[in-house]
Amino acid sequence: MKLLKSRAPTLIDFTEVPSESGNLWFAEVDQQLPFLVKRVYYIVEVPAGAERGAHAHKKLDQLIIAIKGSFVVDITDGVNNWSFIMQGPDKALFLPAGGWRTLRGFSEGSVCLVLASECYEADDYIRDYEEFLKWKSKEIEA
Ligand code: TYD
Repeated sequence: MKLLKSRAPTLIDFTEVPSESGNLWFAEVDQQLPFLVKRVYYIVEVPAGAERGAHAHKKLDQLIIAIKGSFVVDITDGVNNWSFIMQGPDKALFLPAGGWRTLRGFSEGSVCLVLASECYEADDYIRDYEEFLKWKSKEIEA
């Protein structure tokens, strides 16, 4: 697996294979991907002005790709803040466990593809921001 220098949110480049019959993009575990993908989901038809996310994951790492259109991903670890404008299939946002994320500003017709390191586990979510801050402070102490 690709070893990243830090566990901060970061952009990962996919590789393009362009052709006259369309462009193909890929990433492989031994090259660009920082984890083995166990689950895939995508979000479509987000109404104008709607937000997704507003939660953190305790263990789950994710890669977020704007396969079509654009949207914004805001992340905080309680101290540091990041904001990424995702647009197009050339880059994935590596979103490591432990960041509170909100997705907003979806353009009409946009498609958000998510690659996840684990299968779905409801217990891995923190959906309350105050609880998230308490969990982070315990994590820092540990
Ligand atoms: P959620 O992760 O909260 O979506 P978002 O971050 O985009 O707002 O998931 C929304 C709902 O879908 C929630 O009830 C859990 C369910 N869900 C699954 O059943 N399986 C999955 O793989 C995912 C991602 C969500």
